[in-house]
Amino acid sequence: MAKFCNDFAVLGFLSLLSCAAINAQLSPTFYSSSCPNLHSIVRSGMAQAVNRERRLGASILRLFFHDCFGCDGSILLDDTATFTGEKNAGPNANSVRGFEVIDAIKSNVEAACPGTVSCADILALAARDGVVLLGGQTWTVPLGRRDATTASQSAANSNLASSASSLSQLISIFAAKGLNARDMTALSGAHTVGQARCVSFRSRIYNDAKTNASFFACIANGQLSPGFYRRTCPTLESTVKSAMTQAVNNEHRMGASILRLFFHDCFVNGCDASILLDDTATFTGEKNARPNAKSVRGYEVIDTIKSNVESACPGVVSCADIVALAARDGVVLVSLSLSLSIYIYIYIYIGS
Ligand code: HEM
Repeated sequence: MAKFCNDFAVLGFLSLLSCAAINAQLSPTFYSSSCPNLHSIVRSGMAQAVNRERRLGASILRLFFHDCFGCDGSILLDDTATFTGEKNAGPNANSVRGFEVIDAIKSNVEAACPGTVSCADILALAARDGVVLLGGQTWTVPLGRRDATTASQSAANSNLASSASSLSQLISIFAAKGLNARDMTALSGAHTVGQARCVSFRSRIYNDAKTNASFFACIANGQLSPGFYRRTCPTLESTVKSAMTQAVNNEHRMGASILRLFFHDCFVNGCDASILLDDTATFTGEKNARPNAKSVRGYEVIDTIKSNVESACPGVVSCADIVALAARDGVVLVSLSLSLSIYIYIYIYIGS
């Protein structure tokens, strides 16, 4: 990759400021005459990659994000005698992936339009196409980025967030690029696709004093297992999924409502379905707590699912597990909307 990128490279842009400086010249039609087949070449390279391994759609999105605290293709550069590049920076080493996909696309683009299209633009298009191929929204990618001729491992280490970053570190890393905490939260929605290594989140689950104790007790409970009901209620997942599909078909918002129901359940003494309990003579429950009253919704959906599950496997499955599965299924069912918010932020702050 270093060769192709250096061949094309004109200038290095290692900060968003310098990226912003050329933004005025970016245009979606930048290559319309010089490389008319660019979009279809990138799209077909990404389709091949995602057909081979779906995760590659996510991996290329992350590659773009890690390049895009500069958007100059510098992440693609191998180390040389004169610089140590970004590939082996802490947040990238043994983690960022998909370089070979961009290499293959770049070769195809070079065959069609030699010395014309920057690696940075190919990466920007490939990230968009990856999101679309995973079921997300499309967006227009402004083009005309120029490739870096150099890269800096230490800049990558200080510019990129790592799994060990604290909240205040994350906020200031994004703030340095003109993005606020709200932007960061929206962009983090990208984590609805892809995978992470255990090493990236283990320390957050165990012994992390900054995490709400009941929350991680809930997710780290040694007895939890995805196969918990495999023998006792084998149809559980399909029962929940089909009821959630019906609910979301009836009202698209329900996917979001159930996700929030789950979140509000989990933050009060753990993910134990206590939010579903009506008041009794002996306790006043959570339903009418201030953040929930006239706001949290979707109880009837969980009731319906619980009835269906009870018919299939009486007295076996907890409501807490039903809410957890329903929240996951709701997110999957409305994933197009989540992708839309990612699209908006990428388009406004990174893609342009
Ligand atoms: C808020 C700061 C962020 C942090 C601390 C962070 C951290 C991480 C970590 C630790 C992983 C797992 C890496 C591994 O285990 O190898 C990961 C994966 C991922 N990240 Fe982020 N990330 C952040 C923001 C973003 C943003 C803004 C995007 C894109 C818009 C993004 C897209 C992804 C994707 C798609 C994956 C999965 C990649 C794959 O499956 O190969 N991340 N992130």
